[in-house]
Amino acid sequence: MKKRKTFRDILAALLVIFIALQFVRPSIPQQPVTSDIQAPPEVKAILRRACYDCHSNETKLRWFDQISPASWRVAEHIKSGRAVLNFSEWDKIAAPDRAGKLWESVNQAIAGAMPLKDYETIHREAHITEKDLIILKDYLNATVKDHPGDTAKQNAAKQQYQNWIDGKMNSAQLPKTLNGITYMPDYKNWQAISTTDRFDNGTMRVIFGNDIAVKAVHDGKINPWPDGTIFAKVAWDQLENKDGNVTTGAFKQIEYMIKDSRKYADTHGWGFARFKTPQLIPYGKTATFTSECVGCHKPVADRDFVFTSPLKN
Ligand code: HEC
Ligand code: HEC
Repeated sequence: MKKRKTFRDILAALLVIFIALQFVRPSIPQQPVTSDIQAPPEVKAILRRACYDCHSNETKLRWFDQISPASWRVAEHIKSGRAVLNFSEWDKIAAPDRAGKLWESVNQAIAGAMPLKDYETIHREAHITEKDLIILKDYLNATVKDHPGDTAKQNAAKQQYQNWIDGKMNSAQLPKTLNGITYMPDYKNWQAISTTDRFDNGTMRVIFGNDIAVKAVHDGKINPWPDGTIFAKVAWDQLENKDGNVTTGAFKQIEYMIKDSRKYADTHGWGFARFKTPQLIPYGKTATFTSECVGCHKPVADRDFVFTSPLKN
């Protein structure tokens, strides 16, 4: 009997605490919407649905978000989410950085890093569906393949690519570096796993990963990266039109890293290659050009010489 009473007392105490907690709800600051992202309506609709609770001033809290102590976690997410990226204060981001931020955002959604998983579990409507993925990838592809002011070169590259698909071009016709790595046009079908939002020297960079890389990310087996992993880092000039919108300009260069721990044992298991200009001129006067690559990638030796961290979790 005594035991029962203690149990009831504990329950009652917990209930009192729970009710008391409801009075110490964190406040989520109301901030005005001063601007908004510019993206095609179908892309925007996805971001609105999946991201705006944490990355805008248009947060829509559901009743279950407002119950303490869960509400504290929600408030924390909103606070830090808005701090790194706020779609409602888009005008506060420097014009040249906006395109990069949007790029990064879409990539985060495609890579499955955003929205935050625990949020997604209880907000099913924020889930990025297969259909959403197609829309987001199409959007990225259109941005990547759009090289204004460079139509002739772009068409030439497209033709080269089409020839490659049609098998009209044998590998001997594709450029090759002195360490024996052939240009791989196929990167265009890989997944963009990261963009660098640094617009220092006026270039825009996108890093693509092949299926093995993407699977390794998915399985969390990225240190070391498995043999067969290939990264392509592509850089374009960055063009800004009179409205301050940034688009990709001329193709500058493409760099590859191919993982084969035996073949490329001399360079820490990675084969390095770089092709410059739209003519894809192989970089390096001698095969030892790779020591330049290795040297600069050395600071991330503990991450298997790879800078990019595709998932921020
Ligand atoms: C539940 C809240 C929440 C939702 C929903 C959410 N995010 Fe985030 N996001 C965060 C938080 C918190 C951070 C910062 C901490 C971190 O990186 O984990 C962040 C970081 C980011 C960053 C990195 C920004 C930078 O400059 O470092 C990007 C990009 C991003 N989110 C995009 C998105 C996109 C796109 C969506 C929708 C598909 C989304 N987020 C949905 C909370 C959220
Ligand atoms: C001056 C330093 C430097 C040199 C030299 C350099 N890299 Fe990198 N590389 C970087 C940085 C930094 C990144 C991370 C992405 C970014 O910031 O652009 C990177 C990223 C990459 C990536 C994407 C995978 C990753 O690690 O994130 C590839 C592929 C790559 N580099 C290939 C090469 C090749 C091939 C060479 C030599 C021809 C080379 N790099 C030389 C600094 C360098």
